[in-house]
Amino acid sequence: MGAALRGKEFLVLALPGFVWKQLTGEEVSWTKDFVAVDSVLVKFLEAVERMDRETFESEFGNELTYTTVLSDQRTVELIPNGSRIVVRYEDREEFVRLVRTARLEESTEQVIAP
Ligand SMILES: *[C@@H]1O[C@H](CO)[C@@H](O)[C@H](O)[C@H]1NC(C)=O
Repeated sequence: MGAALRGKEFLVLALPGFVWKQLTGEEVSWTKDFVAVDSVLVKFLEAVERMDRETFESEFGNELTYTTVLSDQRTVELIPNGSRIVVRYEDREEFVRLVRTARLEESTEQVIAP
């Protein structure tokens, strides 16, 4: 890891605090740190959490499924068969939690990968 890091010094300097903290083992906060990686997603999920039922249903209808798009544009299912399961208003917090976990794990993998 140390050697790999030295070789990537140039890259590391450009990393957002979010990735930097993972490298140094500091605790990562979604709202404070991940916002530098994907502020649109952070705002989107906050909006989903705060939405009332009417807004949620008119915004998404049956369009929101248990999937998320990773940083490489790959769509992944958050639960088995997630692309065929519609997120209900009652379950939106679970959906938000799953998306956060998927994106945080994705970044951790990238950090750990050589
Ligand atoms: C996913 O969908 C397929 C096809 O409908 C089904 O055969 C399978 O059992 C489902 N898997 C889960 C974990 O629900």
